[in-house]
Amino acid sequence: MEITNKQIAEYTESFTSEEPEIIKELVMASDEDLEYIDMLSGRQTGMLLKMLVTISGAKRILEVGTFTGYSAIMMAHALPDGGELITCEMNERYRKISEPFFAREPYRTKITQKMGNALEIIPTLEGTFDLIFLDADKVNYPKYYRLAKKKINSGGLIVVDNVLWGGEVLDRKNRKAKAIHQMNEIIRDDDEVEQLMLPLRDGVTIVRVLS
Ligand SMILES: C[S@@+](CC[C@H](N)C(=O)[O-])C[C@H]1O[C@@H](n2cnc3c(N)ncnc32)[C@H](O)[C@@H]1O
Repeated sequence: MEITNKQIAEYTESFTSEEPEIIKELVMASDEDLEYIDMLSGRQTGMLLKMLVTISGAKRILEVGTFTGYSAIMMAHALPDGGELITCEMNERYRKISEPFFAREPYRTKITQKMGNALEIIPTLEGTFDLIFLDADKVNYPKYYRLAKKKINSGGLIVVDNVLWGGEVLDRKNRKAKAIHQMNEIIRDDDEVEQLMLPLRDGVTIVRVLS
């Protein structure tokens, strides 16, 4: 199911700021090496993340699911000097593409990539975060949300991508759609947060932890 009318989706994207030059290079490099690049979050979700980092003044960010680095670079672009973004990925093939981009200034000092299963990595991370972006395997979304709640600062933001899963959350015929719907219910019923679910691309929820 198309979440947004195709022409409206194209129109809204054309009126959204263009990505920085490094992102265009990253998309080209990903496209050359991989069969599919539809996992990258794209201009509108990327811009939303970048704006949220700027507006919230986030200094410490955790990303769950790097792929080739699109959203990590968009968010790191808005981080102030001394800011830090930790991003988790388990696939070496994707790391090889993101590595040379993360090695460039100013990302080199801002982005740290942790390779392995994010479910095991997150509990080992020290300290808390101002913004956490969840974008890894969908069957584990309820677990990621619970882990994120333990690591987010009061007043911090948890942003979740693909919360509509192509509209499949409506009839929930497969494991991924069921898990995403379960997480959506957990967020809806969580008294400690306020949240906004947007029908942007594949659905994005912005959760703010109440102070
Ligand atoms: C939708 S993609 C992330 C897209 C990325 N945020 C972007 O904007 O380009 C999801 C990524 O999560 C990774 N992933 C899936 N399960 C994971 C896990 N348990 N631990 C770490 N990474 C995982 C996948 O390999 C994939 O690269």
